[in-house]
Amino acid sequence: MKQTMKVRTLEPPVDFSRLLPLLRVLMSPREVPRMIAEDSDEARLSAIHGSYSPDADVVRVLEMNETATSVSAADTIAGFTRYKQLPGPDETGRSVVHLMDIVVIPSFQGKGLGRLLMNDAIARSRESGFDVLMSRTFLDNDASITLHRSTGFSIAFTRDESIIWRMEFVKTSPHDC
Ligand SMILES: CC(C)(COP(=O)(O)OP(=O)(O)OC[C@H]1O[C@@H](n2cnc3c(N)ncnc32)[C@H](O)[C@@H]1OP(=O)(O)O)[C@@H](O)C(=O)NCCC(=O)NCCS
Repeated sequence: MKQTMKVRTLEPPVDFSRLLPLLRVLMSPREVPRMIAEDSDEARLSAIHGSYSPDADVVRVLEMNETATSVSAADTIAGFTRYKQLPGPDETGRSVVHLMDIVVIPSFQGKGLGRLLMNDAIARSRESGFDVLMSRTFLDNDASITLHRSTGFSIAFTRDESIIWRMEFVKTSPHDC
C-alpha cells in the first residue's frame, strides 16, 4: 500500500461541512464555552463561518492518499490550516497574516504533520510578501505551544489565558549578496 500526501488550497467559498471531523477536534467538547456556545456541529460550523471571509481567508488541507484502498474524499483529509490575510498594514505599517486554525486528526498526530502544515503556512505567508505572521494558543495547549516554539514563533504577549505568537519575516533586497 502506497501512501502519498499533499497540501492544497480549498477554493473559496469553502464548504466547512467537509471539514467537520477536524472541526470536532479543533472545537472539542473541552472547548465549550471557550470556543463554541454548545457541543454541537451546528455551533462549530456557526463559529467558523462567523470568522470566515472568502476574500481574506486561505484554507489549506493536508490530503492523504492510500492507493491500495478506496476511501471517501473526506476520509483523506488529515489536517487543515486557515490563515487570514489582513488587507491593510497594522499600526506599525506592517502587513500581517493571522493563523486562525491548525488541526490534525488524532490518529495522525505526533507524526510531524502539524509541523508540515505550519511550515506550509509560514512559507506561503512569506512568499506572498507579508511582513508578520501572528497566531494564538490557549495556555493549556502543550502540543500547540511546542509546535509554535519549534517552528520559530516568539511570544508577543499573553492575554485572556492565551499566548499571542509573532513571527517576523526578514525581507532581502534584490541587491543583497
Ligand atoms: C497542535 C497540533 C496541530 C499538532 O499537530 P501534530 O501533527 O501532532 O504535531 P507534530 O507531530 O508535527 O509535532 C510538532 C511538535 O509538537 C510536539 N508535540 C506534539 N504533541 C504534543 C503534546 N501532546 N504535548 C507536547 N508536545 C507535543 C512534537 O513533539 C513536536 O515537537 P518538536 O517540533 O520539538 O519535535 C495537534 O496536536 C492538534 O491538531 N491539536 C488539536 C487542535 C489544536 O489544538 N490546534 C491548535 C490551536 S492553536
